[in-house]
Amino acid sequence: MFITFEGIEGSGKSTQIQMLKEFFEKKSLKAFFTKEPGSSEIGKEIRSILLNKENKIYPQTEIFLIFADRVQHVEEIIKPNLNEGKIVVSDRYYDSSVAYQGQREGISKIEIYELIENLDLPTPDITFLLDLPANVGLKRAKNRASLDRFESEEISFHEGVRQNYLDLQEQNFQRIVKIDATQSTNEIFSNIIKKIKIE
Ligand code: TYD
Repeated sequence: MFITFEGIEGSGKSTQIQMLKEFFEKKSLKAFFTKEPGSSEIGKEIRSILLNKENKIYPQTEIFLIFADRVQHVEEIIKPNLNEGKIVVSDRYYDSSVAYQGQREGISKIEIYELIENLDLPTPDITFLLDLPANVGLKRAKNRASLDRFESEEISFHEGVRQNYLDLQEQNFQRIVKIDATQSTNEIFSNIIKKIKIE
């Protein structure tokens, strides 16, 4: 089973993923937890380029770097773990590219969908979209460490990312489960567990 988590900055993905990890451990289920960008060796280098605020990155460069990271991630980490029969959980995957890069000037969503299709990337069995207003998420993110290149974008960018996610969810309602991320962590987690249907 391939599970992904999506959401804007400060949507609480990390907390839920940690709770899911403990849940699977308790059930002695074999699961592998990973994230994008930056999980493969090459990906770590790509991640530091992508998140560095000092870098002026053109939209097309950004998208190719992100998909370069993704191909390494899929081939080196996701596919081998799925083939071993493990549950693979990824913090972000290709929906992030539609939501975030879809906000960049000069990039059409069609271009992003074409990349996803042409690279023959595995489709998640289920994706959890932790949804909340951009200003609430950003406020949370700002209370943490210093802001990276994406987090430093204006509020309108993050509002656009949120809307892109909501559109994606409507178009893929069988795969993407929208969860109200303004609820308590326990409420959110019980919604997630119900959908995964593992006893
Ligand atoms: P990260 O520090 O991993 O943060 P988060 O907790 O928000 O996941 O930062 C990853 C950043 O990369 C995040 O701001 C979103 C961005 N990103 C994209 O723009 N497109 C993508 O396809 C992916 C996977 C991430």
